[in-house]
Amino acid sequence: MNEPKGGGAYSPAPDILSIPSPKWIKCMFESFIDSIDIGIFVLDCNGVINRVNKSLLDQYRLNTEELLGRNIFELMPDLADLGVEKRFRQIIGERKSLELTNVQRRDRFGRNIVFNIKGIPIIEDDDIVGILAVMSDITEKRALESQVAETEEYLHNLIDNANDIIYTLDLDGYITFLNKMGQQVTGYQFDPKERAHYSAYVPENTLQKNDRHFQEALAGRPQRYESTIIGSDGKIVNVLTNISTVRKDEKVVGVLGIARDITERKQMEAQLLQAGKMAAIGELAAGVAHEINNPVAIISGTAEQLLFLMNYYRERPQDMTERLAKHVETIHEQAARCKKITQGLLNFARKTETHTTIVNLPKLLEETVALVDNRALAEGKAIQMRLDHDVSTIEADPYQLEQVFLNMVNNAVDAVAENGTITLEARRKKDAVVVKVIDDGIGISEQNIKKIFDPFFTTKPPGKGTGLGLSICFGIIQSMNGTISVKSKPGAGTTFTITLPMGRNDPK
Ligand SMILES: Nc1ncnc2c1ncn2[C@@H]1O[C@H](COP(=O)(O)OP(=O)(O)OP(=O)(O)O)[C@@H](O)[C@H]1O
Ligand SMILES: [Mg+2]
Repeated sequence: MNEPKGGGAYSPAPDILSIPSPKWIKCMFESFIDSIDIGIFVLDCNGVINRVNKSLLDQYRLNTEELLGRNIFELMPDLADLGVEKRFRQIIGERKSLELTNVQRRDRFGRNIVFNIKGIPIIEDDDIVGILAVMSDITEKRALESQVAETEEYLHNLIDNANDIIYTLDLDGYITFLNKMGQQVTGYQFDPKERAHYSAYVPENTLQKNDRHFQEALAGRPQRYESTIIGSDGKIVNVLTNISTVRKDEKVVGVLGIARDITERKQMEAQLLQAGKMAAIGELAAGVAHEINNPVAIISGTAEQLLFLMNYYRERPQDMTERLAKHVETIHEQAARCKKITQGLLNFARKTETHTTIVNLPKLLEETVALVDNRALAEGKAIQMRLDHDVSTIEADPYQLEQVFLNMVNNAVDAVAENGTITLEARRKKDAVVVKVIDDGIGISEQNIKKIFDPFFTTKPPGKGTGLGLSICFGIIQSMNGTISVKSKPGAGTTFTITLPMGRNDPK
């Protein structure tokens, strides 16, 4: 057995069967009160300190000499104000234990301490001989409690002053908390005693969607989604919501949601979209008017001339045919041009019917080149093809594809000088086909490259290009889930790259 530290008053443990001596009991008691973690002191009936335990001395950095034999109420006069002295007298008078809680005082170092103190009368032969005082220091506990309360208040403020709707739902979707903003938006005065289901604040048509997200969040998958709720005035409010699970002791007990009112943003977006649409329609209308104006002016001028000549040749019908034929030809040409423009516009708006079939891409590219080859040869330009054997068929509308490649090759032929070369390349890349139209022509300036896909943008002389070609190509490729991009170096050449998925390329 270990020797107790400090030596001093130690008596050997008595035999288990023998009666312990009073001395042994006293030693036991002394050791016991010194070892426990609670401050203990013994006062006589006048308040003189007879005994203090080690814990009390350690805790308040006191030593026995300055306490023993001194009157506690003289030593610490403030105890009277704190009601301790009054209780002391009461214990003596009534001979019963009394407790004083949350006593606050400054210790000798100026530290604020809080403690509970219990006084127990010591009775000897029916006489009260003193008081055993047990003191438990709760300073740290109080500090922690007030820290928790402060944090709680801070969080509460934060949540209540948030610009977002913050709420919690239980496993069944009943509202277990709703912050001020949420109450303001929905008009629901949250009361924890009431059982209000969240669905009461969600419009019928988004109920299913909301429920799906709610279930997903409960399953541990946080959700972020746009939805709607019913506002206090019955108006629909657009919200962007984030929800995730709330757990208690590892167990899911509900969800926490943070919803932001995005109604204004939505309205703004819609307005912008509308404004954009109007601007695009305006631009398109101006372009169409401008493009059609020229041929129509020529047609009407020529028709006027024709009328004049018909009158003039009334007497000499034999000379008429040849002269008139020239004018009719002009009318025919210009009317055809109008038709090309309107056809182009129709294609641009993708109103023409589409027929998706299995297209043999190499064959289609060869046929497209054949349409331009004669012109290219006549102008001293060469078209060459590099087709990957991996590329065979894709599902798409052949007429639309042909339109795309025809315009690109035509553009390339227009761009190269005599002896220039145009290369048509098709390669397989994973599940897609990449077609490139490469030329070593004049290239496109940095300023123009941003505009080439705009309808009616052309650098070609009046009467030659409508400027609709690339915008139509863009629309078609996009509808096939493909992409179209361009790289160009002025003076060196241009490469257009079209990527098409190999699967079904149904127009959207
Ligand atoms: N390969 C190319 N090299 C240089 N410039 C090009 C090339 N392809 C297109 N462009 C430029 O892009 C413009 C727009 O082309 P787009 O095909 O849309 O219209 P267009 O060819 O001018 O007229 P349209 O195709 O209706 O006959 C052309 O006018 C030209 O300036
Ligand atoms: Mg073109």
